Amino acid sequence: MRFNQMKSQFFKYHRVLCADIFCGSGSNVVGGDIVYGSPIRLLDGYKKANNQNVNFKFWFSDIRPEACGLLKSLVLDRYGMPIDTHVNTASDAVDILGNMMEKDSSFYLYLIVDPNGPKDFPKLEIEDLLSSFSKRIDVIPYISATAINRSLGARNKAGRQLKGWMNDIENFDDGFVSSLIANNRRGWIRKPIESDIFRWTMIPTFGCMPPKYGWSKQGYIDLNTTEGESLIDFYCGGNK
Ligand SMILES: C[S@@+](CC[C@H](N)C(=O)[O-])C[C@H]1O[C@@H](n2cnc3c(N)ncnc32)[C@H](O)[C@@H]1O
Repeated sequence: MRFNQMKSQFFKYHRVLCADIFCGSGSNVVGGDIVYGSPIRLLDGYKKANNQNVNFKFWFSDIRPEACGLLKSLVLDRYGMPIDTHVNTASDAVDILGNMMEKDSSFYLYLIVDPNGPKDFPKLEIEDLLSSFSKRIDVIPYISATAINRSLGARNKAGRQLKGWMNDIENFDDGFVSSLIANNRRGWIRKPIESDIFRWTMIPTFGCMPPKYGWSKQGYIDLNTTEGESLIDFYCGGNK
């Protein structure tokens, strides 16, 4: 999570609301091992960055009350930090966050969206938020390659048809990717990590603050490049 970026002199917001609207319980057991989920990655990044110039607040919500309860205890145990969690559908959470942004223009929203699959994705609500508050919001959608491939397979039994750059994703999400990089916003895509068989993230880090030296060392590729295009192709089931 890119908390260090908010240390940049070009980042003019002193208040940031970090919202994870599919927060889950904070940990998952995968093949007998505990794998920490997005809220813990988020809070680890925040602690590590130790940014004294910005006041960070956190918003965690999930449709399952028990996940919210578990997350609350985990965060208290791990960081000694009490947090509020909210039992909400993701689309309600986005509406609530939108109302907060409308009432208070002083904060920046860092929105993490990690659904099980496309069906729960509050696409229209997020697109509305992006167009209303284009300069005050960074959306970090984790769209799993497996979920995409499964949906593509189900939707198109005749096989994969990649008709143009990002076409599958554009169809799959009906233009969601382009809404993320509209209004001069930039987007990066993470190169697949060979050793990470649970490659649960694939399109993170869209936003208004292009990194000065790029993020290539960290394995990110600008979407508007040939390499970005071929990575999308790969994630959509093509060859690398
Ligand atoms: C893939 S898990 C991700 C959890 C967490 N982000 C992580 O990294 O472990 C998806 C979560 O979304 C929640 N969920 C499913 N449908 C939802 C909806 N419509 N609104 C809000 N949360 C939902 C589930 O309860 C589950 O905890």
